[in-house]
Amino acid sequence: MKIRKAVIPAAGWGTRFLPATKALPKEMLPLVDKPMIQYVIEEAVSCDLEQIIVITSLGKGAIEDHFDRDFELEYFLEQKGEKRLLKEVRRIAELANICYIRQREQLGLGHAVLAARGLVGDEPFAVFLPDDVFDAEVLLLKQMLDVYQRYNGSVIAVRRVAREESRRYGIIGARQVEERVYQVLDVVEKPEPDEAPSDLAILGRYILTPEIFAALETTAPDRRGEIQLSGGLKQLLQKQPVYGYEFEGKYYDAGTPLGLLKATVSLALDHPEMGAEFKEFLRRLAADL
Ligand code: UTP
Repeated sequence: MKIRKAVIPAAGWGTRFLPATKALPKEMLPLVDKPMIQYVIEEAVSCDLEQIIVITSLGKGAIEDHFDRDFELEYFLEQKGEKRLLKEVRRIAELANICYIRQREQLGLGHAVLAARGLVGDEPFAVFLPDDVFDAEVLLLKQMLDVYQRYNGSVIAVRRVAREESRRYGIIGARQVEERVYQVLDVVEKPEPDEAPSDLAILGRYILTPEIFAALETTAPDRRGEIQLSGGLKQLLQKQPVYGYEFEGKYYDAGTPLGLLKATVSLALDHPEMGAEFKEFLRRLAADL
């Protein structure tokens, strides 16, 4: 079945970015010259997804404004003769068919995905976490769609991490079925290194069958009172196979200031207009270290 819908959870507090995120949604923080969330919406559009469902919460209005028409700004740019900027501002507003749904309480990623149930309905869908940044020649979701078509089951992105890092991720227990593809046998959220079932960590791209919703509904909140998506996945794999797709390439956890900084530097070096000058700047900076 074709994947038509994308769910983008963007309702979290962004506490690791405070005070930057006191009045600004974390998902609107810029990566070089675009807000983080624009990258994932562009990724979804490039993968031919037709409807984007963004999960928001109180204070996230800037996201809706960003993807809406702004006639005053367009008029201003037109008067100034800023043709390139005008084109870009209009392009963003016409990028995709986006709808927004509120997660009234931030009760975790699983809870946020569950909020999209009514809009997704009974069909498989993709989930993109805006603060997981991938730099790959072929878009990660495109690679995952290929696995989904062949195995006809949920596919989650995974990556090998150092054992000490397991505390930061959901870790899967898995059986390899082909190069870079695993059948998921277990999911453990943020385990201690000696309790991790493998070194394969779950990253922020998912293709999920609609049965995830029933699974999330019966998922108990964790110690912090949050319903985790990994908890829902653990329930789901008791009912149907779930696959892990190993991503090899550059990945940045832009959910923290240091991660965002690394992602920004890496993407800026490849930027067609700023890349060369930025590289020279870094060279000079490094020489002084
Ligand atoms: P994160 O854990 O990275 O985001 O969740 P957060 O909760 O905003 O960050 P911290 O931990 O407070 O710093 C991954 C994605 O899931 C969304 C976030 O907005 C982010 O895009 N999310 C998280 C929700 O939509 N709702 C939630 O209840 C939790």
